[in-house]
Amino acid sequence: MIKKLAVLISGNGSNLQAIINSTKYGILKGVAEIVIVISSNPKAFGLQRAEKEGIKNIALDYDNMDKNDYNNKLLELIKEAGADLVCLAGYLKRIPENIIKEYKSRILNIHPALLPKYGGKGMYGHHVHEAVVKAKEKKSGATVHFADEGYDTGSIIMQKEVDLDETDNHEEVAKKVLLVEHEIFPEAIKKVVEESKNDN
Ligand code: GRF
Repeated sequence: MIKKLAVLISGNGSNLQAIINSTKYGILKGVAEIVIVISSNPKAFGLQRAEKEGIKNIALDYDNMDKNDYNNKLLELIKEAGADLVCLAGYLKRIPENIIKEYKSRILNIHPALLPKYGGKGMYGHHVHEAVVKAKEKKSGATVHFADEGYDTGSIIMQKEVDLDETDNHEEVAKKVLLVEHEIFPEAIKKVVEESKNDN
């Protein structure tokens, strides 16, 4: 049975695009389909990516909504769409308790570093890569993990490393890591789908 994905975004949506491509041509074809894309930001380019693919998409204007209303609407949309899994693809807001409870071990988040290092509140996007460069790390990478109440603290599903050159600045690190993200997010989704089939 094809698993239904709700994909949450906040920006460019390149991870969303990687999942879309994988459901059409790659390892997620016949395994999973995106049933809804929800953005916390009405201006997110990822919404246009979904629209272009004919995928249902909606923006909840996080910055201009009552937080309770936002959280309730978010849960309502995910449930209405019949999502089996929730994928946080460049989603920059904390997942509220009500959704964590309802979707325990069914929410996957991608983080642009090798957790548990360089994770936690405030560690997103360029902040992560700047810290990696400052620490003169020889490697970075991406992690897909189950989201829980914390920031980047849920159990790890998959990680992949990428070698850094000492001349790499944070933008170059970001580029290298983003390519790894696009590789492992679909792989992690497939792994979770397959494990859920074994559990039944
Ligand atoms: C990327 O830096 C990624 O590491 C993080 O969110 C940022 C934007 O991702 N998960 P996307 O292009 O919106 O998927």
